[in-house]
Amino acid sequence: MTRVLVLNGPNLASLGRREPEIYGGRSLAEIEADLRERSVALGVDLRVEQRNGEGDLIDLIEAETGRSDAVVINPGAFSHTSVALLDALRAYPGVVVEVHLSNTFRRETYRRVMLTAEAADAVILGLGASGYAIALEAATRMVRERGELPR
Ligand code: DQA
Repeated sequence: MTRVLVLNGPNLASLGRREPEIYGGRSLAEIEADLRERSVALGVDLRVEQRNGEGDLIDLIEAETGRSDAVVINPGAFSHTSVALLDALRAYPGVVVEVHLSNTFRRETYRRVMLTAEAADAVILGLGASGYAIALEAATRMVRERGELPR
């Protein structure tokens, strides 16, 4: 079974309440429930995590080698700032799909730098919560094209 971790970075636990005009009205729990349903149809073994801390995210990614075939990550603001998170993603051998709810290129200029995207096989921007479902499907397809990693 294809193993996928969906990992959310800082401030994403407050989705639905936080700037809904930018990020939409769906909570992370609602997004997770939708992904769980889809994972059954896709035949994916899904885990969903959220951490606010940069080091916590890095610890999780470090532990993913041998544990998952793909990581779907919304690094939140760390996407724009964290070389350390980029390095952790570069060291991860599986498929990486980065997702952002908003189109960061249409916002403040400081959001145009996307450091972590360098480590991503694909980046999805501006589709709101449905970006996660598309990212999960794309990550699963890429894993199956490449072959699952040794466990
Ligand atoms: C975000 C975009 C980031 O710039 C921002 O800091 C977030 C959310 C998004 O999903 O659109 O926390 O990653």
